[in-house]
Amino acid sequence: MEEYKLTMHDERDTIELAQNIESEKFPNMVICLYGDLGSGKTVFAKAFGHAMGIDGVTSSTFNIIKEYNGELPLYHMDVYRVDNNVENLGIEEYFDKGGVTIIEWADLIKDYLPEERLDIRFKVIDENTRVLVITPHGEKYENVCGDII
Ligand SMILES: Nc1ncnc2c1ncn2[C@@H]1O[C@H](COP(=O)(O)OP(=O)(O)O)[C@@H](O)[C@H]1O
Ligand SMILES: [Mg+2]
Repeated sequence: MEEYKLTMHDERDTIELAQNIESEKFPNMVICLYGDLGSGKTVFAKAFGHAMGIDGVTSSTFNIIKEYNGELPLYHMDVYRVDNNVENLGIEEYFDKGGVTIIEWADLIKDYLPEERLDIRFKVIDENTRVLVITPHGEKYENVCGDII
């Protein structure tokens, strides 16, 4: 399977990547973010939302799923504290509601993820450097990567 390794030299690079992927968005797009605390997942989600015309995307420890209205609906999930709640959240229902879903800490719900999705793994190298490993699952996501990377 093809994967892309990109180095983000500072926060602006991560914001630009999010904007580029946003420009290729489609209904029911699912983007899964993986990586330690402080690696840049929320920076990515916020920049993606901003590009969709949504200000104020934030991670909240209280709301696992937040819904925003932009050019398309955005479902931002931070499943860090999901524990045994996954079943009750009805996460799968969001994947075909016509919006874009962005999931932080997606490894915690890996059994619930759709087969077709974009995986982005964030690795912290130093204060401002992140290595991102991007893996498209499915043709639509392969095309997105082919177009923007
Ligand atoms: N290249 C980079 N990409 C993304 N964030 C970066 C980068 N360099 C430094 N940062 C900083 O790292 C932090 C990432 O925080 P955040 O996005 O909330 O992490 P997470 O959601 O993964 O816990 C922010 O303070 C951001 O300014
Ligand atoms: Mg976060």
